[in-house]
This record gives sequence, C-alpha cells and structure tokens, in this order.
Amino acid sequence: MRRAWLRAAIVPVALLLSACATQSPVSSPTPEPLSPTPSVTTASETALTGNGDVPEVLDPDLLEHLPVTVHSQSGYQQHIFATWPEFGKPKIDAAIRGYYLSTIKQFEQDYPQPADPEAPSPELNLDWHLLAASPSMIGIVADGYQFAGADASDLWHSMWFDPSTDTVYQPADLVNSYAVSTALVGLEPSRRTMVTTLDLSPLGSNPYGAATLVAFTGNGDLIVGFDECQVAACVEDRVTMTIPATTVAPMLTAAGKRAQAAEMDPVDPTTTASASASSPSPVPVVTPQPTAKKVNCKKLKCVAITFDDGPGPYTKTLLSYLKAGNVPATFFMLGQQVDTYPHTALAVAKAGHEIGVHTWSHRDLTRLSPIQIDKEITSTVDIIRNETGVTPTLLRPPYGAVNSTVRKEARKAGLAVVLWNVDTLDWKTRSTPKTVKAALRDTRRGSIILLHDIHKTSVAAVPDIIAGLQAKGYTFVTVTDLLGNPQPGVMYRYGR
Ligand code: NI
Repeated sequence: MRRAWLRAAIVPVALLLSACATQSPVSSPTPEPLSPTPSVTTASETALTGNGDVPEVLDPDLLEHLPVTVHSQSGYQQHIFATWPEFGKPKIDAAIRGYYLSTIKQFEQDYPQPADPEAPSPELNLDWHLLAASPSMIGIVADGYQFAGADASDLWHSMWFDPSTDTVYQPADLVNSYAVSTALVGLEPSRRTMVTTLDLSPLGSNPYGAATLVAFTGNGDLIVGFDECQVAACVEDRVTMTIPATTVAPMLTAAGKRAQAAEMDPVDPTTTASASASSPSPVPVVTPQPTAKKVNCKKLKCVAITFDDGPGPYTKTLLSYLKAGNVPATFFMLGQQVDTYPHTALAVAKAGHEIGVHTWSHRDLTRLSPIQIDKEITSTVDIIRNETGVTPTLLRPPYGAVNSTVRKEARKAGLAVVLWNVDTLDWKTRSTPKTVKAALRDTRRGSIILLHDIHKTSVAAVPDIIAGLQAKGYTFVTVTDLLGNPQPGVMYRYGR
C-alpha cells in the first residue's frame, strides 16, 4: 500500500531539464563505477522530462521484518517533536540519529524560547518517511517543518543505505554528481516551471553537492531537491529538479541503480521479490469498541492514566504492566506511529484500553489552517479505525495547544478535547524515580495523568505509579469513564 498522505503535503516546484543535460559526464570519485552510457541517448530524448513528481512514499510495513525502532524526542517550551527510525545497524543508525540530533541542536541554538511567556514558542517538527526498500537499499526522507517568530519553513533530507552491509551512501555515491550539476546549471529559463529566481551561484561548480533530497519517482526518474531559500527565493518553496529515467541512466552508479530499483519496485528488505509479491497484505482486524467495566466515580476515587505519542517499541511492555495491575488506560496515538506499529496499536485495542487521537504528525495545531487541522485529525481517526477497529472519540492536541479553531475542528470530527492536570515531566527528566514521584505527589481525585509510552524510563515508572496510587485508594479508569459523557469540541483537564 502506498501512502498518499505526504504527497499532498509536499508542493515541490518543478524544474524541467534542458537539452544541455546530455553533456558527457565527467567521472567523479564515486565508490562504484558508472555503468556504460547507452549509445541511443540523444538530446531530444533528454528533453522529454518529468514534471517534478515528489518521491514515492511507502508504507513502513515494508520494514516489518527488520528490527526497526522508532525514536522520538520532544520538548514543550520549545515545541520540538522529532521521530526517526533505527535499524539495528551501527553505522546506519549513527548516521540517521546524527542527522536528527544535530538538526534539533541547531534549532535549539538558533531559536531559544522567547523570554516573553506570551510569545509563540519556536516549533520544530521532524518526521520520517520510507522512500524505498530492497534487501540492498533503503531510502528514507526526513520531512521537517520549523517555525520561528514570523518565519515558517519546510526542510527535507534524504538518506540512503544498504542494510545488508551497514553501509551509508552519500548523495554523491548514487550519481555522477558532476553530470547532475551540469544538468542543473544548464537549465534554460524556459524549462523552469514556477521558478523565476533560480540562483545557483552560491553553490559553486557542484550545486548537486548541496542537494538535500535525492530520490526517484515510481517511474525511475531522478529527483534532486533543495531546501527553501537554497537555490531560489524563499517564497518559491522547496525546489526539485526531475531528470527522466532515460536520461539519468548513464549518470547512475551501481548504488544509484539499486536505489532506483528499490524505489520503483519496493519489497520487504528481508524477503525476495517473489515471496513479497505473493504474501498477503495485512487483513484489518475489526474489534468492537472496548467496553470498560462500569465504575461509579461518584463513589470511588477515580483517576485516568494517559500515554501520548505512541505506539512505540516499549508499548507492549507497558501493556503487560497494565494487565498485571488490572488497569485500563487511555492512549493518545499519533497516526504516523500507528502506521509504523499497526500490530501494537491493535494489541492496545484488544487489551481493552481506550484509544484517542494525538494527530498524525504532532504539529502545533494552532498554527495550522482548518483544512490542515482536519487532515491531521481525520487521517489519524482513519488509520486507528482501519488498524484497530476502534473509532476514537477523544483528541489530545500536541503540546496541549488549543484555540477556537482547533475546538471547532474537533467538534466536527466528533472528538472531545482532553488535556491533563498532572504533568509528570517524564519527557523532560527521562528519570523513572522522578516520574513516579511526580505522579504520586500531584495526583488527586479526578486527575488526568500525562505520560509518554515512547520513553523507556516512563514505561518503567508505570508499575510503581499503579501500586502507589492503588495503595492510596485510587481506582484507574479510562478518560471517557472519568469524564462521564465527554462532548465533542469541549475541553477537559480533569474529571470527577
Ligand atoms: Ni505529544
């Protein structure tokens, strides 16, 4: 299944490749040799170009047989949310982690939290998407958004690697960078669509070397992408050049050809193409909305424990702790995490816990248009329903950021807005003892407790939180049971 969600989010500006792109490529120091140049390539064929198709975005289920772990890092003062995969390969994982952590660090340095508490928080949001998958090549793209004061911008960064040998490829390893640079420099203005301010001069003689995205279309066309403001005026958005498959073939290294094939015809990296083709796609299992056992919170001291940002690699451990304590919980899931961990999401539903919406990509909703908010919400409702059979009725907006537009969209989607009144700061301290202490100290009757099941330290705190609160006479219930009859569009921080 190919995901269409991101495709609409990326609005690349197409550059059309001019006939001068067929100048002979000059060999560059790449680790793998260029293939022989097909003799049939002519200038006229080269001029038949693609028109800026965005990279194919694949279902991360293709990686389900690899030990993929999705890591997240978040912050509230500066609104930072980043999520990235790791594959259990030291060099590959170090390269991926290095990109994300250095981008976060740079953002923190460049855009510190304003001293004025009323000023809007700087925001950085970094997703990942699967571009390509084969036993010898995986491509991912980090897709980012940052907001700082008056400026908001998008960024992207592709990464290619061979999971069978733990090899990381640089953009210059995939193509003859001189040839691609020549194609870019030689673009005639008439071949540029919607780009009027192309300026490659700051990039020197090898502008390809500054590209932040290297990918292929499903047809095999090469896409070379640049960040906003990099090669054109900032208002022109991210800029992409598309070189048609026929023209690009002689420019590809052996690694580039593998990357191209992995994007044109992706397969599970651990299976052969034929085995993958014959394997059935996962069948959505529909379970009824769990019915929590009826608890009378007018008589009992009820509290709700909630988990945000998952499901993730520690969620199944968490489920065993909740089961041991006979505790129902509420999970506010991210659509992108459900997409990566569909079986875990289903396990949460089958265990009878409540599932709510935490949006698809963890953006601050108060900065989005009603249409964008609706997309963040409904795409997540849809994937939760498709993967678990549960129809959510609760929304927890990322960062607890709410305004009238967000409430209105929530009401339209049939979702009550649920915040919290006990913040354990687990995301910040990453300390199991401190998380336990905060939960036991701050919880009162009717509390909604905020935790994150994407952090190992938070999950490890759950047995002691359960035991400690039960010892104080509290009864755990889902958020819906705590609130009684939560109404769409109404905001809640605690219950009875
Ligand atoms: Ni969150």
